[in-house]
Amino acid sequence: MTTITDILSSMDYGPSPEDSSIAGDWLDRHSAGFGHFINGAFTKPGKTFTVNNPATGKALAKVTQGTAADVNAAVAAARKAQPKWAALSGHERARYLYALARHIQQHSRFLAVLESLDNGKPIRESRDIDIPLVARHLYHHAGWAELIADEFPGAEPVGVCGQVIPWNFPLLMLAWKIAPALAAGNTVVLKPAEYTPLTALAFTEIAAECGLPKGVLNIVTGDGETGSAITGHEGIDKVAFTGSTEVGRIIRRQTAGSGKSLTLELGGKSPFVVFADADLDAAVEGVVDAIWFNQGQVCCAGARILVAEAVAERFETLLTARMATLRVGDPLDKSTDIGAIVHPVQLDRIRDLVGQGVAQGAVLHQGQAPDGCFYPPTLATGVEPASVLATEEIFGPVVTLTPFRTPVDALSLANNTRYGLAASVWSENVNLCLDIASKIKAGVIWINCTNVFDAGAGFGGYRESGFGREGGREGMSAYLTRSAPRAKKPETAPPAPDATPYARGQTQGIDRTAKLYIGGKQARPDSGYSYTVQGARGPVGLTGLGNRKDIRNAVEAAHKAAGWGKATGHNRAQILYYIAENLSARGPEFEERLRSFGAGKNAAAEEVETAIRRCFWYAAQADKFDGAVHQTKSAHVTLAMKEPLGVIGIACPLAFPLLGFVSTVLPAIAMGNSVVAVPSQTHPLAATDFYQVLETSDIPGGVVNIVTGPRDDLTKTLAQHDEVAAMWYFGTSDGGRMVETESAGNLKQTWVEDGAARDWMSAEGQGRVFLEHATQVKNIWVPYGE
Ligand code: NAI
Repeated sequence: MTTITDILSSMDYGPSPEDSSIAGDWLDRHSAGFGHFINGAFTKPGKTFTVNNPATGKALAKVTQGTAADVNAAVAAARKAQPKWAALSGHERARYLYALARHIQQHSRFLAVLESLDNGKPIRESRDIDIPLVARHLYHHAGWAELIADEFPGAEPVGVCGQVIPWNFPLLMLAWKIAPALAAGNTVVLKPAEYTPLTALAFTEIAAECGLPKGVLNIVTGDGETGSAITGHEGIDKVAFTGSTEVGRIIRRQTAGSGKSLTLELGGKSPFVVFADADLDAAVEGVVDAIWFNQGQVCCAGARILVAEAVAERFETLLTARMATLRVGDPLDKSTDIGAIVHPVQLDRIRDLVGQGVAQGAVLHQGQAPDGCFYPPTLATGVEPASVLATEEIFGPVVTLTPFRTPVDALSLANNTRYGLAASVWSENVNLCLDIASKIKAGVIWINCTNVFDAGAGFGGYRESGFGREGGREGMSAYLTRSAPRAKKPETAPPAPDATPYARGQTQGIDRTAKLYIGGKQARPDSGYSYTVQGARGPVGLTGLGNRKDIRNAVEAAHKAAGWGKATGHNRAQILYYIAENLSARGPEFEERLRSFGAGKNAAAEEVETAIRRCFWYAAQADKFDGAVHQTKSAHVTLAMKEPLGVIGIACPLAFPLLGFVSTVLPAIAMGNSVVAVPSQTHPLAATDFYQVLETSDIPGGVVNIVTGPRDDLTKTLAQHDEVAAMWYFGTSDGGRMVETESAGNLKQTWVEDGAARDWMSAEGQGRVFLEHATQVKNIWVPYGE
């Protein structure tokens, strides 16, 4: 007798192709080629290139290669439209975003088909994931537009945004970029990727349908050269980029010193950790979603399976069995699981990397794939941690499997990457999941799930996966600015430190040489030299002339103090209060010191008093500036945890020698970071006097390290240091450019301001902005309610 199981296993699979005629008609209507969408209308096609369907290799459309002149025109249109767009009420902008969301839903089938034709992704994904998420993003940001005045009081739009996006989620990335930008009152020049520009072009027609004012959204097509003309354009106020880490680094250097704000969403090599007590069947389905979703061309793809040794064999058996059932082929077939690779160039790249991996000893287990621009689902075992397959972003349907023994091993393997975009953790033990989630260095952690997204939660990376968040409140605030203080007279470079020895007695009786402060101890500078600190009436003392070796030692000490980040907010608060108390006890000494630099009696007293108040304020915030819980999906909540960045390098302003130091170092340590501070180059002695305050305040050694000397030289070493996670610089414009350029190596976050911009005595010297720069949000998706 034939059973149902027999029927199911022997039944032939019949294709169920999606009707592509509407998208075909649209392409036919545009067969003369596309121009750019500038100032509300299409330009005439210029020099064009062909966009192909990767699944068939057939041409779909001709698209214009954007020139510098095209970018100029687009930026001019955006610039002209911006004040009027910003002057609308949030509610008026909300109506436009709502209309865009509605129209996306009305055209959803057309957009899904066009996306699958252009990108090669299975129609099931474009229909059920990409396009619904596009609409969701626009709805969510219609909401932010409506609430902007309530939720972000005093905030202004940044201006004109230059946005460059990749080819893996063409329309979704467009929505992620433009929705917050437009909600905030910015206008946009966006470049889609050269492989996949078609849904962006179709979107312009939807924008026109919704009556979006001309110039608010401009789309310029072209390749990296066009992208570079946008990101480097002087008329652009903010650059937002999603793509490869390599190009992210180029853009970081290109925009250095330009004053443009920058967010980068870059590559990843995310771990997928399966513990022995995980629901293995669910975890196998998780792998399907982690690495075979969108052909693995996903920045947060779970590309490294780490599985507990005890279940590794069984897991591999289940996984290879599941691989055999994945259908690779026609993206427009509703039964297809894995579609086409976006472009033959990308296919070559995947083959090349896999070839290198095999040469390094990897063993492949592959499913089937048809001829053409397709690649089979691939599992690689026997992969050493240093192999290209374990380290490089492949951006294809290729996953590695590595067994581990203990949770500690799993964690060290998970964090053994220069990236930090996402991670997925599988176990039935909630304690273990949350413990591992807290220790993985990544911006998004999925517990017993993977690749889930929602506009209500932030998305973005740690380390070389970039900085900034998209989605949620953080994503919205990246498109807003609170009028940053401006220097009336910009800070000028201080004279080089004078290391010439001078006779004793010249310094009004002060013959003590201040040392550096590293790892909780006073340390002689490596150079063996000191430099003279000038006061109002001649030299007032000597301080150590720090060099790059001292900075390296200080960074090492700061690293060792990482336990500070795990102290509770309450513990940190107590120590900050204690610092305030000890500073208060030594108030008169500090006043005297400030007076020796030329401060008047009242000014000196006020600076000390303000410093004490500031310690109280950050002590108060230490256990209050915390995260949020987002209700993102019916079966999940998303914990938005504020985490310290790690080691922050801080270059203090020249003026306000005490307050400039306290106002920058305190917020950083209040949030659990450790710090290497370069105090005011001209008047460092107020900071070196601070050792005694620190020494009596129970702060663990290494949390605050102080290196005196030539600010920009020391800062350069900090900015180049791979173990420094963020750099704050309050100094000259040349120094700021240097910091932004040098920080491109490990893509550290930077905060650069003119040292003379803030009035450190006023409210400008303190606030949430300091705390925001001292933290990054980790979004942890936790099963909840189902
Ligand atoms: P890409 O980073 O070169 O391209 C992304 C976008 O940046 C495209 O629109 C491109 O035209 C533009 N672009 C290129 N050079 C530029 C420049 N100098 N200035 C401004 N814009 C520029 O990525 P590509 O070459 O398409 O892919 C190469 C590899 O990058 C992939 O194999 C993958 O590993 C990684 N990648 C990662 C993505 C992510 O979301 N993490 C997205 C796309 C690629």
